[in-house]
Amino acid sequence: MTSSSPLARSALTRKDFPNGFLFGAATAAYQVEGHKFGGAGPTHWDTFAATPGNVLRAEDGALACDQYHRYGADMDLLKDGGFDAYRFSTSWARVIPEGRGAVNREGLDYYDRLTDAILERGLEPHLTLYHWEMPAALTDLGGWTNPDVHLWFGDFVEVIDDKIGDRMASVATINEPWCVSYLSHFLGHHAPGRRDIRAAARSMHHVLKAHGEAIARLRDRGRKNLGIVINFEHTQPASDDPNDIQAAATQDATNNRWFIEAIAKGHYPQEALAGLEPHLPKGWQDDMAAISQPIDWLGVNYYFRQLVAHDGSSPWPHTKPAQGHLATTQMGWEICPEGLRALLVNLKDRYVGDLPIMVTENGMAWDDHVKNGVVHDPERCAYITDHMGAMHQAIAEGVNLKGFFYWSLLDNYEWAFGYERRFGMVHVDFETLQRTPKASYHMLKDLIKRS
Ligand code: FCB
Repeated sequence: MTSSSPLARSALTRKDFPNGFLFGAATAAYQVEGHKFGGAGPTHWDTFAATPGNVLRAEDGALACDQYHRYGADMDLLKDGGFDAYRFSTSWARVIPEGRGAVNREGLDYYDRLTDAILERGLEPHLTLYHWEMPAALTDLGGWTNPDVHLWFGDFVEVIDDKIGDRMASVATINEPWCVSYLSHFLGHHAPGRRDIRAAARSMHHVLKAHGEAIARLRDRGRKNLGIVINFEHTQPASDDPNDIQAAATQDATNNRWFIEAIAKGHYPQEALAGLEPHLPKGWQDDMAAISQPIDWLGVNYYFRQLVAHDGSSPWPHTKPAQGHLATTQMGWEICPEGLRALLVNLKDRYVGDLPIMVTENGMAWDDHVKNGVVHDPERCAYITDHMGAMHQAIAEGVNLKGFFYWSLLDNYEWAFGYERRFGMVHVDFETLQRTPKASYHMLKDLIKRS
């Protein structure tokens, strides 16, 4: 990929992509809805945020973007921008406040109204069933480390499916199982903030079991549009040193290969089992058939390149992150569109063949400000056009890519970074909740308009 200025680029437009290619934007329930409304139960993100030191300024998702009340105007933004689709998620604790048992009808009705609002505007609804807000009552029982969590999740999935399942263009079971498990139970960066290798291994297995359970239950109900959303980074060794090369291979196995290999091939990568196998639940091999049942499409979230170095001073996985020379976003993430092209081609060649793929998240955070009513974000415009170029190239190389969802429609609650990191193509003033489309929104509107 080139790195010329955004103005110098000749940007690709809708007609450069295959017929029917979807352009959309994504959000997630806890990040936009406003969790305090409508009788939702507490989630482990509420407790994580309330514990000092976890989240910047200890912010939580109680109000977020108040999409709970403003969904109509937000869907108008998508319609007016000429987008085809909205990717959203359902909050387990909003619908079943205690995680199991009684359903909160008010919460369920919200997703019914949201679905109507999406469809009324001619947009396609793309649902993710779980995007990280485990009900706190289930976290009390171990959450993703509990051996029954797949059954609890399966019951929740059926409640959602009863209400809106027949109207969804696609359904993903889980968003980013690596973040649900490894990032949250080994690295401790996300709720529930554990740093425990046994909890990590168990949650890495259980989250896949939950995926399999959801697929099985939805299949029984005749659903045909089922997938999962997995995050991938472009992992590279920090140097040519064999130790760094080994470290990168280990990280590639835990961060990139674990989940797709289990689903596509029914096994876990050896480099990851080397550290994790002693901590997996007994009999885990017996679950692999349920985990690897067929899916109808794969969701890919991609943001950055990650350099990895050997760390001889710590136990397995003996890795530490290293900083490269590429330009970074407000998150400190290295911008690498070529990594997206390589990833998509690799997924086709090694794992999924012709299975439809959608890029379900890609985008960047920047310290955006409204000046005289406008938000000038040339860095984001460049990021988007370069990643569109990478997707275009992957399609030319035979990848069956069906769509691209920008992350995110709105600036929102960026987890451990609270409201500081702005990923939206629409700016949100978190005092007034006023929405201001950024230059990147207008650019995308231009690129994807149907002429
Ligand atoms: C992904 C998450 C999404 C958002 C982006 C920036 O890992 O799925 O909720 O936080 O990163």
